[in-house]
Amino acid sequence: MLTRAIYKGGHFQGETASFEDRYPELFTACKARLEPLPSPRILSFGCSTGEEAFSLARYLPHAEIVGVEINPWCLKQCLARNSNRRIRFLHRNAKEFSSMEGFDAIFCMAVFQRTEHRTERLSPLQTGFTFERFESEIRFLDQKLKPGGMLFLDESDYAFELTETGRNYTPLDFPGSKVLRKRPVFDRDGRRVAEESEFTRAFLKQNSL
Ligand SMILES: C[S@@+](CC[C@H](N)C(=O)[O-])C[C@H]1O[C@@H](n2cnc3c(N)ncnc32)[C@H](O)[C@@H]1O
Repeated sequence: MLTRAIYKGGHFQGETASFEDRYPELFTACKARLEPLPSPRILSFGCSTGEEAFSLARYLPHAEIVGVEINPWCLKQCLARNSNRRIRFLHRNAKEFSSMEGFDAIFCMAVFQRTEHRTERLSPLQTGFTFERFESEIRFLDQKLKPGGMLFLDESDYAFELTETGRNYTPLDFPGSKVLRKRPVFDRDGRRVAEESEFTRAFLKQNSL
């Protein structure tokens, strides 16, 4: 509640649930592509209490991993738990994060959603998490991903393919890259368009336009 009061519409998902090795198929695909790189860089955006970053570090021990969170309590847990010098945790609004770029992979898992869209059937206009906000944050993250880098998204209220940014990406195909999710999805105008759909969870950024 405090995080919402401070950051208002800039705070997307309010729930902070996370667990170790939550997305094994995606972590495996990320490892397959980045393992040959001498020093891959990965962003875990909306990292909650750090489980995603710590899991990724087990898949790719030589990677540099940055976990980014908006909730100060979560960030405190991340910092307290971390003893790995290759993992760093930063606040979403940290100056240092705003100037970071050149990531080889970005994970935005279960961040771009509001639980109230499901549990209370509120509309994006009621919660304030509109398509414009989603698209604007995607544009911001796109600037941080290298051409040829991978973007992973899951549990989102909006399809990445609807964004302008998405036009410069192609879906990646591997076991587990698509899942059937029983959850609402919304269109650009905030209309609920499906209660169940297949989500593509991994995309490859094409060369700069
Ligand atoms: C459900 S957790 C997901 C954690 C992890 N990514 C996973 O999938 O297991 C969503 C997290 O996103 C964070 N979050 C919400 N809005 C954010 C924003 N604008 N920037 C960064 N993190 C945000 C929340 O504080 C919460 O910890």
